[in-house]
Amino acid sequence: MAATSELRKKVDLATRSLVLTNDQLEKVSALLLKELNEGLRRETNPIASIKMYPTYVRDVPDGSEKGKFMALDLGGTNFRVLVIDIDGDDFRMENEIFAIPQSIMTGTGEQLFDHIAECMANFMEKHNLKEYKLPLGFTFSFPCRQEGLTKARLVSWTKGFSCSGVEGEDVVTLLRKAVKKRGDIEIDVMAVVNDTTGTLMSCAHKNRECRMGVIIGTGFNSCYMEELDNVELYDDDTPGPNKVIVNTEWGAFGDNGVLDFVRTDWDDEVNTYSLNKGRQLFEKMISGMYMGELVRSVAAHLTRQGLMFGGKGSDELFTPHMFKSAYVSAIESDPKGVYTNTKASLDEINLQHATLEDYENLKLICNRISTRAAHLCSASLATVLNRLKRPHTTIGIDGSVYKYHPNFNVLMEQKVGELTNPEYKYTLMLSEDGSGRGAALVAAVAVRQQEELKKRARAKKNSVISMNDDVVQATQ
Ligand code: BGC
Repeated sequence: MAATSELRKKVDLATRSLVLTNDQLEKVSALLLKELNEGLRRETNPIASIKMYPTYVRDVPDGSEKGKFMALDLGGTNFRVLVIDIDGDDFRMENEIFAIPQSIMTGTGEQLFDHIAECMANFMEKHNLKEYKLPLGFTFSFPCRQEGLTKARLVSWTKGFSCSGVEGEDVVTLLRKAVKKRGDIEIDVMAVVNDTTGTLMSCAHKNRECRMGVIIGTGFNSCYMEELDNVELYDDDTPGPNKVIVNTEWGAFGDNGVLDFVRTDWDDEVNTYSLNKGRQLFEKMISGMYMGELVRSVAAHLTRQGLMFGGKGSDELFTPHMFKSAYVSAIESDPKGVYTNTKASLDEINLQHATLEDYENLKLICNRISTRAAHLCSASLATVLNRLKRPHTTIGIDGSVYKYHPNFNVLMEQKVGELTNPEYKYTLMLSEDGSGRGAALVAAVAVRQQEELKKRARAKKNSVISMNDDVVQATQ
């Protein structure tokens, strides 16, 4: 028994660097604020690691949106096609999920967009939509420089994607091209949005206090409503509200080294084996794409040191990406003293010889990695709340980590409170399918605004005609 607790103590000690104090988190928050400000300023933006991309979304839904819309959602491991009926506060939605094979995620851009167009055509066929040209919202969840509501140039791929020939291109043009090539369907793209924007819009539709959208899923990112005056890169002078949603792309925080004081050798290892080495370092400490890999990296290290699994690992334990992030949630869901999920996960990676103590130690590692992620997320949310200085802000949150990890949201509720000025109250609101509904809502707002503009133009034309008639009459 004494030997047992010795091992436990050693594992505890060896993983202490994963526990962040509030002092460290406050430092993370102060650095993040500095970087957010640099991203917003025209002068510092080119060298800033957080790019703060202005979207062209300036207003949240007002409840009068109505009609039938299509939405596409590309950003994780799956691609979704949706058809949504919006009638004020009511939604009716049908959707289908299509897998994106690994070969397409890392193939050519043409293959990717052809695949998307094919899935769309199949969906439209199945739902008898082929002869319609419905307004469409396209959720494309990667860093993009937007040049308008329907023009977004991909800056760089993140998560598991690396399709060639897309970086620097407008993804709406590529989508239209692929659809045109088929010739059997028609689309009317009204908006391209990031999933964080979709999340904000979808929450704002229900709760008018919502000013921020966050995704903690395969990737990690946020957007929020910023005063137009502060967004120096926004150069659209169309009249409208004096605010705009900014897509922070804060997953790139730390790419310039400022987070090295909290990063560990395991973070370095995860980065080394990733598709986009040297980029998205903050995201790699937090999101679902990397959480399992972080746990694997720690466990493999401790096994090599003889502290776990009797010093004997398995091929899977020593192979990058073999420990799924879903195992982390499963293992942490095992109640105290029960190891059903833990054992099942270890069986999958061929560690049947694990002892009870290994189970406990693995659970400790999972807990340290997920708690660190939740605390870093909290520090980021607190940064924006402290910057907005609003008496109350609702934050819409979506993503598999937030939704399915057993205590992520509880950890966040508590830590955001500890790191935010108590004068600025907040509500963390679980978003209902921001990527799908949100995109349709942005399209719906765009359609509504387009109709208003047309109406105004018609009214102006009529008044010119009647003025001309008056002139004609007066001269007769
Ligand atoms: C992307 C973001 C996206 C986030 C969540 C990140 O990897 O860069 O654009 O919002 O993942 O999906």
